[in-house]
Amino acid sequence: TRDFLIAPSILSANFARLGEEVDNVLASGADIVHFDVMDNHYVPNLTIGPMVCEALRQHGITAPIDVHLMVRPVDRLIGDFIEAGATYITFHPEASDHIDRSLQLIHDGGCKAGLVFNPATPLSYLDYVMDKVDMVLLMSVNPGFGGQAFLPATLAKLREARQRIDASERAIRLEVDGGVNIDNVAEIARAGADTLVAGSAVFKAGRAADPHRYDTVIRDF
Ligand code: DX5
Ligand code: ZN
Repeated sequence: TRDFLIAPSILSANFARLGEEVDNVLASGADIVHFDVMDNHYVPNLTIGPMVCEALRQHGITAPIDVHLMVRPVDRLIGDFIEAGATYITFHPEASDHIDRSLQLIHDGGCKAGLVFNPATPLSYLDYVMDKVDMVLLMSVNPGFGGQAFLPATLAKLREARQRIDASERAIRLEVDGGVNIDNVAEIARAGADTLVAGSAVFKAGRAADPHRYDTVIRDF
């Protein structure tokens, strides 16, 4: 039994039949749906918005939806994702002019809030908001695309983030995003991550084996 949660990133799913893909990964043992929102401005790619999140809820998805905002400005989209049924809403501190206010907006809407750290973004952004954070998300690639290689410097950063979280004595999830796969997952979990995003490792492997089943790949994690 694993002591971490698996959050497949639907960025690597087949968008032409997204509901089915999400049903399949959840039925195969995934815990959280990781939902990547890109705006062609903060990151050089364009993906999905609140309508798709709402459509997944209407489709019957009840699992937590972990909305990873790679957008600038941040605040304008928070209300829409609250309405759309998000569980977690995380954003990059550099993309918000008022980090404390963005966290507060998320909490006011009844969602859990988190900060996302790019590979070169310092964890010191947590210094004065630790009491307002429910998730710390460390990027282990530069954001914008699935299928990139895990940056090994993330391991030391994970250990540092784990220390900060333990010292806070709060129930804060430590999530890692980018290049997570079957071969490096154990090392990443040992460094302190408790929530693992996996996009291509889940969806591409599942598709190669059987397009409707992801249970072997998720079990292997
Ligand atoms: C990248 C996204 C990730 C990405 C992960 O900007 O935030 O969630 O989809 O994909 P893999 O697991 O393929 O690196
Ligand atoms: Zn992500």
